[in-house]
Amino acid sequence: MTYIRSEIIGHGHYTPKKVLTNDDMAKIVDTNDEWITTRTGIKARCVVETEVNSDLSYKAAMMAIKNANISAEDIDLVVLATVTPDYTTPATAIKVANMLGVKSGTPAFDLSAACSGFVYALTMADNMVRLGQIKTALVIGAETLSKITDWTDRNTCVLFGDGAGAVVIRACEGKGDATDTGILASKIYSDGAHFDNLRTTGGVSVSQNAGFVMMDGKEVFKYAIGALAQGAEEAMKIAGITAEDIDFLLPHQANIRIIEGVGKKLELPEEKVIVNIAGHGNTSAASIPLALSEKMEDSTIKKGDLVVLTSMGAGFTWGGIVVRI
Ligand code: COA
Repeated sequence: MTYIRSEIIGHGHYTPKKVLTNDDMAKIVDTNDEWITTRTGIKARCVVETEVNSDLSYKAAMMAIKNANISAEDIDLVVLATVTPDYTTPATAIKVANMLGVKSGTPAFDLSAACSGFVYALTMADNMVRLGQIKTALVIGAETLSKITDWTDRNTCVLFGDGAGAVVIRACEGKGDATDTGILASKIYSDGAHFDNLRTTGGVSVSQNAGFVMMDGKEVFKYAIGALAQGAEEAMKIAGITAEDIDFLLPHQANIRIIEGVGKKLELPEEKVIVNIAGHGNTSAASIPLALSEKMEDSTIKKGDLVVLTSMGAGFTWGGIVVRI
């Protein structure tokens, strides 16, 4: 019996040209390179000047479409994970689909699950592929977090950056075991008991504006390693593999201490844990596809590699995906 899987056939990423180093941040708030580097692993972050979310999404998506060697007309679904859309409505995914030349009638929507947005979006798209509803999907994670950053709050403003990443997935046939190519398993979670630990100060329905990010960093930190490990472990259990089998763990890039903590919890050697936080900071829904695309582009991650994506963010939301590239 054949088994339908979703194979990643294209990757893309894009970051704005303007870079703010830690020394630049020290000119904005009372901070310094040593504090930011040792507490977070972040050295610099990219921020938009005139670009908006759809510009970043479009550029990452164009690269993914080219890399997949398909035409925009082949795409049956566009999902854009973000908490910083161009407009409240319509969805930025619809604008991006139109910019790309995706055919009229193609479903497109935004998905809001904060830093877990891409893992949620890829899970949704994979499910539609496996149900036979679509063949090819474009899944994007893109953020302009600089627009909801409180640039007077040193506790948060040093942490975030802007960027986008994208993948094209397409239906392929497998045997139904862990030797298959494509997405082998996924598991997503949320727990609203932590709603107030990491959220914006307002929102459309509450304050008629988007608000700014506020966070109880210590609470988030306490929860993050366990949640990231659980997302990875449960997805691996469903896929019928263990941490020993994987080539790479790609955790959400929020803090180097959290990333290293998850690697240790899963007993993975350092070289198997993907890290790109130094140049980007936390780009929320863009974090995983941005790192995935960068590492596929420089051939760190190669065809046939078994990769576990794991994320955790506001909500809290968290989850994991096992994918053979
Ligand atoms: N520069 C210099 N000092 C800073 C600072 C900055 N940018 N931000 C905070 N501080 C100060 C604090 O005011 C505090 O000073 P005080 O002791 O005089 O009050 C001191 O540094 C220690 O702050 P603390 O909160 O204990 O630091 P920490 O070791 O917990 O690190 C975070 C703070 C935010 C880096 C850390 O809690 C974290 O990474 N949390 C998770 C964040 C995250 O990943 N969020 C996204 C999840 S998707």
